[in-house]
Amino acid sequence: MPDRARFPLKFSASVLSADFSRLGAVVREVEAVGIDMLHFDVMDGRFVPNISFGALIQRAVRDLTSLPFDTHLMIVEPERYLEDFLTAGSNLISVHVETCPHLHRTLQMIRSGGAKPSVVVNPSTPVTAIEPVLTEVDQVLVMSVNPGFSAQQFIAGVLPKVEQLRLIREARQLNFDIEIDGGINPQTAPLAVAAGVNVLVSASSLFRKDKPLSESLAELKRAVGA
Ligand code: DX5
Ligand code: ZN
Repeated sequence: MPDRARFPLKFSASVLSADFSRLGAVVREVEAVGIDMLHFDVMDGRFVPNISFGALIQRAVRDLTSLPFDTHLMIVEPERYLEDFLTAGSNLISVHVETCPHLHRTLQMIRSGGAKPSVVVNPSTPVTAIEPVLTEVDQVLVMSVNPGFSAQQFIAGVLPKVEQLRLIREARQLNFDIEIDGGINPQTAPLAVAAGVNVLVSASSLFRKDKPLSESLAELKRAVGA
C-alpha cells in the first residue's frame, strides 16, 4: 500500500458517460459532490475506434468550475493538439506511449505549457515501455480496458503492472501518481487501490440512471475506505 500522505486517494469523473445535453450542470454537480478532478476522454476514431469530442467542449465548461481538468488524449500525433488543450484549461494531460515516438519531447511540451505530464499504457503494453520517462512524469495512467468506450469490463491482468510501478517508484524515489482507468466500480476499485493506485477514473459507475452522483460516489469511496 503506498504512503497515503504522499499519494492521497483521488477520484476523477469521466464525463464520457454524462448527459451531454446538460454538461454545464453536470460539471457543477461533480464539483458539488466532492469529486477531485474532471476526466476528459478525447478520441479520434484512429488510435481508438470511437470519436468523442475535442478541446472545444473542454473550453466550454472551463469557466464553470475550479476543478482540475484531467485530459486523456486517445489520439494519434497528440503533440499537434497540446496547445489547444493547454489553452482549453487542461491541468494534467495524459498521452499514450503507443502514440508518441518522441515521448520525452511530448511530455516536456506539456510541462513547459504549464500542465502536469502523464503517460498512459494500454493493457497489453509493458511497464518497460515507459521506464525511461518515469523521471519526467507527474502521473502514470494504467488502462484497465482497451481504450475507446465506457462501460467495458475491468481487466484484472493489469494489476501486476500497478504493483511493478509502485515498487519502481519506491526504489528510485520518484513521485508520480498512479491512475487507473476503465471498469472501475465498487467491486474493482479496492483491487486497484490494494495494488497501489491512488487516482481512480470512473465514468459509468458514477453517472448512472438509477442513482444520483452523490450516492454512486459515496459507494465508490466506501469501497476503498475513503
Ligand atoms: C476508456 C476511457 C475511460 C472510460 C471509462 O476509453 O478512457 O475513461 O470513459 O469508462 P468506465 O468507467 O465506464 O469504464
Ligand atoms: Zn480515460
